[in-house]
Amino acid sequence: MFDEDERFVTGGFIGEDEEIEYGLRPRTLDDYIGQEKVKNNLKIYMQAALDRREALDHVLLYGPPGLGKTTLAGIIANELGVNIRITSGPAIEKAGDLAAILTNLSEHDILFIDEIHRMSRTVEEILYPAMEDYALDIIIGKGPSAKSIRIDLPKFTLIGATTRAGLLTAPLRDRFGVISRLELYGIEELKEIVKRSAGILDVEIDDEGAAEIASRSRGTPRIANRFLKRVRDFAQVKYDSKITYKVASEALKSMEVDELGLDVIDSRMIRTMIENFGGGPVGLDTLAATIDEDANTIQDVYEPYLLQIGFISRTPRGRIATKLAYDHFEIPYLEN
Ligand code: ADE
Repeated sequence: MFDEDERFVTGGFIGEDEEIEYGLRPRTLDDYIGQEKVKNNLKIYMQAALDRREALDHVLLYGPPGLGKTTLAGIIANELGVNIRITSGPAIEKAGDLAAILTNLSEHDILFIDEIHRMSRTVEEILYPAMEDYALDIIIGKGPSAKSIRIDLPKFTLIGATTRAGLLTAPLRDRFGVISRLELYGIEELKEIVKRSAGILDVEIDDEGAAEIASRSRGTPRIANRFLKRVRDFAQVKYDSKITYKVASEALKSMEVDELGLDVIDSRMIRTMIENFGGGPVGLDTLAATIDEDANTIQDVYEPYLLQIGFISRTPRGRIATKLAYDHFEIPYLEN
């Protein structure tokens, strides 16, 4: 199986990304490009909470990896003037770990839990009273003499992030007052992000160079910023350091990313749908097994972009490859 971490166009973090992203991360909502609906709503909820001197209600952010969920959580903390504590579902191993984090928060602080769907059930159950009543229920002793005591917690805001809201259990999902879906970015928005990042990295780029990186970044800022860095290397070593259309397209071609940002796995997936399953419908699990990929990875990482560009569509009987996909891979499409 292809290792998600080694895939160049993955939305997940690889290596130095975290570092470069840090400097490139916007710190205010005004600097955050795109996601207008989410941003406008959050502005109102934050203003209202500030006016009432209350903690912001708990927020669930969901959507494909690399769209800026962690960045947004950092911005919310910054705009509200509170601290943010960042952790992730799999990192919280025991109920006590979460209890320790919660008791160390200050009033109105933000606790950000990435991949919140990967918390264990025992840890998750600690969160219910914490979210609902700002309380921690602790059992002391064992057997018939065991007693439960309740400890008050500071009024905090939980921001949870996940790829799909449907991965959460209903009781957890129901405890979020704000549920926002982040969408893949449009090319114009990605272009703006690339230009902003180029400015921060102090690399010269023209409009066509930015457009080329944007259009191959599968709607994902993290991928756009990663490509920008690699294209900058090409520009510096092989050209005069300036990123133009020619430099960007040559660099990205050498990384086996096609004009639409599709890589070898996307192309294997579409070709398999067409060549082995007559274009579909084919079920997710069948497709996953045939190309030896993880079904969740297909659903969370590969499919959103292929759906957005109209290469596949979902039907109750499974996925189908569209005429656009046949045309892109130059396979004759037979009307039936
Ligand atoms: N870098 C990554 N995501 C961004 C965004 N949405 N706006 C500005 N810069 C970004």
